[in-house]
Amino acid sequence: MKKIGSVIPAIILLVFISVQSCKKEKNGSGETKTSTAGSRNSHNTGQNCMNCHKSGGSGEGVFTAAGSVYDSLQTGPYPNATIKFYTQPNGGGQVRATLSADALGNLYTTSTIDFSGGLYPAVSGTTGYTNYMSMAISSGACNSCHGSSAGKIWIK
Ligand code: HEC
Ligand code: HEC
Repeated sequence: MKKIGSVIPAIILLVFISVQSCKKEKNGSGETKTSTAGSRNSHNTGQNCMNCHKSGGSGEGVFTAAGSVYDSLQTGPYPNATIKFYTQPNGGGQVRATLSADALGNLYTTSTIDFSGGLYPAVSGTTGYTNYMSMAISSGACNSCHGSSAGKIWIK
């Protein structure tokens, strides 16, 4: 009982601290930002961008889709990949949105993306090789799964 008694307050404290640290700067909303090939304005490669780039979060811009693309060894970032969001698996249906990751391997946008019905991401390298996600997503927070519950997004 003693252990549980001290663990629970510790968890509550941690959650409180992280919520506060994200609230420090409230300049998140209203910014328009989209990654472009070659740009280097992003940071925190591999982290879940939407931990901070959300409504009321500390990050500049509320992202609708954001994440990180790695090289085929999954050790370093893969720069300037192209990300497309299809309405059907394996590049089928319509393309609802197209993004370019930046020079640091990060993709992000504050533009509205219609996720209704689910979207299938596809990531292409600069030589045209493409990796398709076989399941549909309803949220663009790539790194909420990739790098933790799912492997890193990679391309060659
Ligand atoms: C721990 C919180 C946090 C995380 C996680 C985070 N960001 Fe940020 N981000 C910030 C803050 C705070 C700023 C504004 C100050 C700054 O530029 O560092 C910012 C600014 C930015 C900017 C604007 C820089 C500029 O000058 O225009 C971009 C682009 C960006 N983040 C992309 C990302 C991407 C992509 C990810 C995920 C791979 C990410 N961020 C993860 C907190 C975060
Ligand atoms: C809800 C968790 C989740 C989210 C969110 C998510 N993915 Fe995935 N992704 C997975 C899982 C699990 C797989 C492996 C099974 C599959 O292909 O469906 C995968 C596979 C992939 C693949 C093919 C294999 C690989 O690892 O390269 C690509 C490409 C991909 N995802 C891109 C993305 C992009 C881009 C985003 C954000 C716009 C994203 N995913 C968001 C869980 C997620």
